[in-house]
Amino acid sequence: MGLELQSVSPLEIEALRRNLATQFFGKGDQLLYLPSVESTNTLAMQLANERPEEGLVVLTDTQTAGKGRQGRRWVDMPGCNVLLSILLRPLFPPHLLVMITSLAVLDSVADTCQVSATIKWPNDVLVEDRKVAGILIETSHDSNGRMIAVIGIGVNVNGRMQDLSGRSAAQVPLTLTATTLESECGQKVSRELFIAQLLQYIEKSYLALQQESKELSAAGTATSGPYSRLIRERWRGQLSTLGRTITVQQRNSILSGIAEDVDDDGELLLRRHSGELVRITWGNVEYPTR
Ligand code: BTN
Repeated sequence: MGLELQSVSPLEIEALRRNLATQFFGKGDQLLYLPSVESTNTLAMQLANERPEEGLVVLTDTQTAGKGRQGRRWVDMPGCNVLLSILLRPLFPPHLLVMITSLAVLDSVADTCQVSATIKWPNDVLVEDRKVAGILIETSHDSNGRMIAVIGIGVNVNGRMQDLSGRSAAQVPLTLTATTLESECGQKVSRELFIAQLLQYIEKSYLALQQESKELSAAGTATSGPYSRLIRERWRGQLSTLGRTITVQQRNSILSGIAEDVDDDGELLLRRHSGELVRITWGNVEYPTR
């Protein structure tokens, strides 16, 4: 175990509330803070039945069983990270949630740290090719068939990756491929301000997409409108993956080639070295060292 929870400063929830300029994300009893929890995503999904309204934000200082993509563990440094989940009921497809969330993380990193980050397909946020944030979106359906989505976001804010060196061998490779905002901008970053910005950015895009979905459904027209197209183009423009030689790990197989483009649903188009173009819907992308 690295840092003990008692020795680090917990999130200042009152400071967060004071800075939170959202319309409903995390407002009043929609903000649930626990010093330690198994996983904010798991808890938010469990609360979905008793919370028919959306915008619940679950926050913690450390997770005992943090979940990463593809069944991996998400390791944190207690009291140093942003670890939160937002409970939503989107009317639009989940890939757009991926896009607005990763763009919101990029914008919040730029605002609080003046550092420029990029997106590694589909939703890892990198600074100088090292991971600073990960996003895990989980979906389910309520008894009316309406989608429930939990957006889970983990950001390495303070501390340095070397602080993880007391961890098990399986977790140590993280220190080679990950970074923190503090390491990148040379000073501590306020987690409360970061969270306030992040929630505001996500809420703004979310509300615009909900509105667009309602209008499209009332008009009975296409499944995509101008705002979704704008989001897609912005997200595509921030992908550091395109044009690069990459590997994609899917369970026991590894594909490699050049990341040529993404399609309208955000799926990756990989030109294999054989010339074949394959559509990648999931997998772990790596940038081989140059
Ligand atoms: C990934 O890159 O593999 C996704 C990591 C997502 C981690 C966050 S931390 C808050 C939320 N709760 C979890 O258990 N996971 C997400």
